[in-house]
Formats: sequence, structure tokens, C-alpha cells
Amino acid sequence: MDQQSQKAHILIFPLPIQGPVNSMLKLAELILIASQGQIQVTFLTTIHTHTRLNLHAKAATRFSGYPSFSFVTFPDGLPEDHPRGGDKFMEMLNAVEGVSQPLLRDMMLNNNSSHKNDDYPITCLISDGLFHFAVDLGKENGIPVIYFETMSLSCLWVYLCLPKFIEAGEVPFQENEGMEAILTLPGIRGLLRRCDLPDFCRANNSSSETMIQRIIELEKQYNRASALIFNTFEDLEAPLLSYIRAHHPYNMYVIGPLHLHLKEKLLELEATKATPPPSTYCSNSIWREDNSCIEWLNRHPRRSVIYCSFGSQVTLSKEQLIEFWHGLVNSGFRFLWVKRPRSVIGMEDDVHNKWHEQIPDKLLKGVMKNGYVVTWAPQEEILNHPSIGGFFTHSGWNSTIESLVAGVPMICWPHYVDQLVISRYVSHFWKVGLDMKDSCDRVILENMVRDVMCKRKDEFLQNANALANLAKQSVENRGSSCRSLDMLVDEIMSFRL
Ligand code: UDX
Repeated sequence: MDQQSQKAHILIFPLPIQGPVNSMLKLAELILIASQGQIQVTFLTTIHTHTRLNLHAKAATRFSGYPSFSFVTFPDGLPEDHPRGGDKFMEMLNAVEGVSQPLLRDMMLNNNSSHKNDDYPITCLISDGLFHFAVDLGKENGIPVIYFETMSLSCLWVYLCLPKFIEAGEVPFQENEGMEAILTLPGIRGLLRRCDLPDFCRANNSSSETMIQRIIELEKQYNRASALIFNTFEDLEAPLLSYIRAHHPYNMYVIGPLHLHLKEKLLELEATKATPPPSTYCSNSIWREDNSCIEWLNRHPRRSVIYCSFGSQVTLSKEQLIEFWHGLVNSGFRFLWVKRPRSVIGMEDDVHNKWHEQIPDKLLKGVMKNGYVVTWAPQEEILNHPSIGGFFTHSGWNSTIESLVAGVPMICWPHYVDQLVISRYVSHFWKVGLDMKDSCDRVILENMVRDVMCKRKDEFLQNANALANLAKQSVENRGSSCRSLDMLVDEIMSFRL
């Protein structure tokens, strides 16, 4: 027991969807490397996610290089063919919450059968911020809880200020009030309009009340947590970060961009001749990546292709897809489109390329000439491919930070929650792209593609490259994210039973 009480053991519990799983696996790997194996890490996820990670990301092989790492899995209770996202997201969340609460409690009490005999007792839980119950379980069992937020700091700030917006009558707002500036947002006054707030701030949003209530609880939840971790870097959100630090007591670790940070740490390991996992891009995909698109990209000139992907959750209608494809074809630029299975409502699924039969002939000719369609892509690698000149994105936080690191300008078509805030930051704060929120129009997209790929290319590229350089500095030895990771590791090591 003496020896047991000397080793820290963290349980990492992500929301089982692509973005959070991807970044929290990178967090796990970073902690393993930075602590030189002194911290035992257990990654808790659904059997559904774990099976896919092993099938497509070969996570089992990669993590087998770390003796103090293990996966613990649980069934989410949903049918195999459940989409576990899109408009069924809340169903998935409720199912996962229901099953995981008793399991987490058992694990914290160290009486779970999935524990191996030589496991150390859990000394800390790192949970996705959406699992509100985690902090209660932690308090109940005397285990510190650290929340990992898969959103930008700007979005966190908007969440924290929600009670102020409501008090000032700015939220909920009607459709015709969307362009009015938000006046009660300290720290970033004047930057956001009402339509740039998360979708649940809109009066016509059906989940408005539930979501607002959930978010209002967030501040209390954070106040009870030991710390917060963010996948961003200081220079990207500096003014806001100092503002939040000055006004809130949270202990915040800003350790991103995680994928770049991990790459840097693996390179350092390689230099010291330790034994790092071999891959340059540590893919954590839960879908099979179609690598044929890399060969397709290799055939095209520098910065001539626009990459289009809406992450793992967004669904669009067949009409929206056709409108966008018209815009892209009319722009004359080549495009790589990720059409995730079941992501287009009203279109029979991709099996055997059935989408070919469901779009007008003339458009199909244009798509076949200038486009390349895959069901899932190695995104990190694509964004760093020389032929990519722009990214048409849903503005999910992981996609955004991957694009910033690669210095690729964006066209944003945000769908919900944090994405609406992020797209405004991209266009009006970082000035690395354009925001086409609330419109789906072929002419608008065509013009935006021309702007990003040609007319305003230099301006966007200059800003994007400047941010990419700052991102790189942050993860280098003694950079802000590097130091913050060391402090996080120290804090975790200090948690003893
Ligand atoms: C969700 C929410 O939708 C988003 O708003 C929030 O910011 C994070 O959680 P998701 O929809 O999965 O995320 O989008 P995003 O955060 O952008 O993550 C997608 C991940 O999938 C990225 O890491 C990206 O590299 C990866 N991806 C995407 C692929 O590997 N291949 C693809 O074809 C598309």
C-alpha cells in the first residue's frame, strides 16, 4: 500500500465522439510522455468507440508502447446501428451518462472488476466538461476532478456570461435581432453579434431552455473542479485569457494545440533515442480513413485545392449538399469533400457510391471533373499537404485549431453551439478566413472560395502563418503550453490517496 500510495493514477473520460476522443487520447499520450511513465493512465470509453479505434486508428498497437496505459470499456446500451451523433446526440449523451455514472463510482471506490490486480487506486479524474455529474462523484469519493474542455476560451467566456446576456434581455433573441452587437460581453465587447452566440441563444431553438439551464450550471461545476484544461495556446487568446484569469479563480492549464504538442514531444523523444511510436500523424480516427485522397492531392499544384469537411456530428440536407457542390464547381477550384456515412439527410447512403445517382447529371460531371469525395479523410495530414489552399469547415474546435496550426485559411459554415462563436473569431479576430453562417447559397460560396483561394489569399495566409508560428513556439521547450503541461503533470502527481 505504501508503494501504491506513491503512484498517481488518472482516469480520462471523454465524450465518445470523434473530436473529444481524438484530443483526449492525445492528452493521455502527452501525460504519459511528460511524466515519463510516473502516472498511470486509464482511458474510459464505450465499446463502440474502442472497437473503432482499434480497427481504424490502431490505437491498441500505438498505446501498447506505454506500459502504464490501459483502456477500460463499457457498453453504451445503444443498438449497433445507432448514429451516436447528429440529431441523435442527446440520446447518446443520456445513454452514456446513465451507464457510466455507477461504473465511475465503482472505479473510484477501486472495486471494479475491470481493474487489474496491479492497478493503483485512481487519484484523479479528467472528464469532458459536458459530464456535469463527474465533479459530484469526485467530491463524494474524495477524488479531484479536472475538466477538459473541447472548446475555445472565447466560447467558454460566452457561456460564463450567459446570465448577463439574459439579464440584459439580449438572450434569447428573435431572428430579426441577430445582427445587433452584444453589449454585455466584458473582455471582448463589440466583436460578437447576437447571431454569433451559440444556437441555443436563439428564441426559435427547441432545446434553448434545457441548454441555457445546463450552461448556467457550468460556473458552479467549474468552481468545484480542481482545474480546467484547454486545447488552445496562450498567444491565440491572450487578451481573453488574462481577463478570465483576473475575474475567475479557475486553475487553468492551456496546453494546446495538443496534436502539435504531441508531435513535438515525440520528436524530442526521438532525438534522445527513446522509443517513440513511429507515426508522424497520430491518427485517432473512429472511421476508416481513405488515404487515396493523398495520392489525388499529390497530383495537384501548390495551394490549388479546397478541403471540405464538417467533422463528426454535423448533418446537412441533400439540397444543402447540392447547393454547396454547385458553388464549388462554379468557383473552378478543385475540392476534396468528406461525405461521412449518413451525414446527408434525404440521400441514400454512400455504400456503392449511391450518391452518384442522386444528384443532377450536369453537377455530377463538374464534381467528377474538379472534386474528389471520400467518406473519411486523414485530416491532419491533408491540412498539411502542400496542395491545400483553404478549408471549408463547420468550425468545430479541433478542426479549427488543426487548420490554424497548418496555416490554412478557412471558410466557416458553423452549425451549432461553439461553432458559431469560433467562426466569428476566424473572420473578425484572427482574420484568417470568412464566415458564411446562416446562409447556404451557391453564389456566396463561389465568391468566398475565390476570395480565400485567390483575391484575399495573401492577407489570410499572412495572418494564418503568423498564428501557426506562435502555435509552434508555444509547444517548444519552455513555450507556454509546454510549461503548462509540466505544471499539470506536477499537480496530478501531487494527488495522493
Ligand atoms: C464536436 C463538436 O461538433 C464541436 O463543435 C466541438 O468544438 C468539438 O466537439 P466534431 O464535430 O467531431 O466535434 O468536430 P471537430 O472538433 O472539428 O473534430 C473533428 C475531428 O475529426 C478532428 O480532429 C479532425 O481531424 C477529425 N477528422 C474529421 C478526420 O480525421 N477526418 C475527417 O474526414 C474529418
